[in-house]
Amino acid sequence: MRPSQAGATELPNLDAILPRLNDQMRDDDIWGEVADYIPELARIDPRQFAIAVVLADGTLHSAGDADTPFSVQSVTKVFTLAIALGRIGDQLWTRVGREPSGRAFNSIVQLEQEQGRPRNPFINAGAIVTTDAVLGNRQPREALAEIVQFVRTAAGTDDIHINNKVAASETTFGHRNFALAHFLASCDNLTNRPEMTLGTYFHHCALEMTTVQLAMAGRFLVDAPGLPRLVTPRRIRRLNALMLTCGHYDGSGDFAYRVGIPGKSGVGGGILAIVPGVASIAVWSPGLNRYGNSLKGTEALASLARQMSWSIF
Ligand code: DON
Repeated sequence: MRPSQAGATELPNLDAILPRLNDQMRDDDIWGEVADYIPELARIDPRQFAIAVVLADGTLHSAGDADTPFSVQSVTKVFTLAIALGRIGDQLWTRVGREPSGRAFNSIVQLEQEQGRPRNPFINAGAIVTTDAVLGNRQPREALAEIVQFVRTAAGTDDIHINNKVAASETTFGHRNFALAHFLASCDNLTNRPEMTLGTYFHHCALEMTTVQLAMAGRFLVDAPGLPRLVTPRRIRRLNALMLTCGHYDGSGDFAYRVGIPGKSGVGGGILAIVPGVASIAVWSPGLNRYGNSLKGTEALASLARQMSWSIF
């Protein structure tokens, strides 16, 4: 870590804090439940934990199973949203809202009440529309190549791949997402066939990354001079605003209260959290809380934010 300027408060030492946090997480034997509606994810051992932090000066700090690849799932929605906004800009908002949903990530009822315009781009219905915008009039493999390339560029490595078994597993059991996609199509809010948009969606959700790779990929959302900038500062602020208000579904308020920084979760147990201007943080632990967000991941972020005095408030 860079020595602090005279008079500035020294940042607590992450290389001491992260291993201690890793030990604390493993001491307590309540790990939550792995997502079982995607059979390939149901087989994962919940007793795993990792944390990685990239600071604005580019230094990387990690502890736990930080080099174990896991299914990123909904965390990819941040990347696809950035790509969709890059492709069609504010037009996206004619098709998707920007309000917290207060409902489960895969809820169906609100979509009908609101005539097929999903509340936000992070609930499944909104992410399906966002994926449809990324797809445009291309073939799924072209859109997927763009998504994978964006994530690889953000992370600074080519060693990031889609797990086709996870995508196939979700396709076979993705009845709710098919229901959402067909309802969207019935409201003229999909430009591609539901099967095509969903195929693209399931595959980008099945991207696998390590916790270190995810923290590295999150650098583009920090907006610090020493870190890669893939989108404009204004777009970074807006992506962070959506992560804060909608990134944890009906658990977004609780996450903002306990952790105090923007974050995006996935049912694979990963969370990407951003301290604007300061750090990109990834945590992973596959056991989930009742909102479908990583149980230990949330606890660890709350503890880290407290110890580092990190909060946007
Ligand atoms: O569509 C789904 O249900 C999954 N591919 C992604 C959901 C997800 O990760 C929700 N996050 N906590």
